[in-house]
Amino acid sequence: MSSNTKVVLVTGGSSGLGKSICLRLANAGHTVYGTSRKAKGEQVDGYSLIAMDVTDNASVQQAVEAVIAKAGRLDVLVNNAGLGIQGAVEDVTPELGQRLFDTNVWGPHRVSRAALPHMRDQGGGTIINISSVAANFGLPYRGFYSASKAALDRMSEALSTEVTRFGIKVVTVQPGEFNTTIGDSRLRPEVISEAHRPGYERAMEVLGGSMHYSRDPDELAQVVERIINDPKPKARYVVAQGMQKISILAKKLLPGRMFERKVRKHYE
Ligand SMILES: NC(=O)c1ccc[n+]([C@@H]2O[C@H](COP(=O)([O-])OP(=O)(O)OC[C@H]3O[C@@H](n4cnc5c(N)ncnc54)[C@H](OP(=O)(O)O)[C@@H]3O)[C@@H](O)[C@H]2O)c1
Repeated sequence: MSSNTKVVLVTGGSSGLGKSICLRLANAGHTVYGTSRKAKGEQVDGYSLIAMDVTDNASVQQAVEAVIAKAGRLDVLVNNAGLGIQGAVEDVTPELGQRLFDTNVWGPHRVSRAALPHMRDQGGGTIINISSVAANFGLPYRGFYSASKAALDRMSEALSTEVTRFGIKVVTVQPGEFNTTIGDSRLRPEVISEAHRPGYERAMEVLGGSMHYSRDPDELAQVVERIINDPKPKARYVVAQGMQKISILAKKLLPGRMFERKVRKHYE
């Protein structure tokens, strides 16, 4: 293996952004392990797809140990596996919200905990957490998605300051909207209350329209490739364009209620 090629583990390597990351990194000559809950260790387009459920401690531990057993090290972990959720905050039950957090927050936490001792022993590594532009706002009818990604971002910041002394870099990537099938597996409350139905349905129409015209996942994979080749990556990368990017700045500059009105107008 050349010194520039790395051993990379990408959670959620079976579809969408994770698959694009696996394909791009494998093409560049890296040794890539993607994960899927359904995988059986098969080879797909130059990378291995191994079994992992990020909500299950034993499954996470097993998958990370399998990578170490096969490749001898783990240079880069991309915490990409994640779920969406839709529903008014009031309609989402605590149980449903917990399922989301188990995948989007405790998932990356579990996999990082399994990877960190190996990275520390080998004197370094990089953890890339795939967050979302949504982490910057409380998106209406996707409030728990925003909350889960905001929690992931804060956890990444803290982790970064704790592990930099071991030569481990932690990077947050906030994608805007990309053309994947994430909308199909979004968690949904069983009951949509009549009070919230009109606002919820309109917001889902707006969201459906923008997902349809969104961008190629390989653009995000290119950013991940740049990060792992950069000896000094930034703490955070926003991979978004137009309104999605401008909104982050607007949130910082505008008074809170004014920003809220703009968000409401967009979704109405
Ligand atoms: N698409 C976007 O516009 C967008 C924007 C911002 C952020 N993101 C974030 O990007 C990441 C990838 O999203 P995507 O759009 O590529 O979604 P996707 O196409 O639905 O892919 C999700 C991936 O996560 C895996 N996964 C889901 N639950 C899992 C679990 N419990 N354990 C292990 N793997 C699990 C799935 O694998 P299996 O089902 O095969 O197990 C799949 O490979 C997510 O964190 C998402 O929040 C996406």
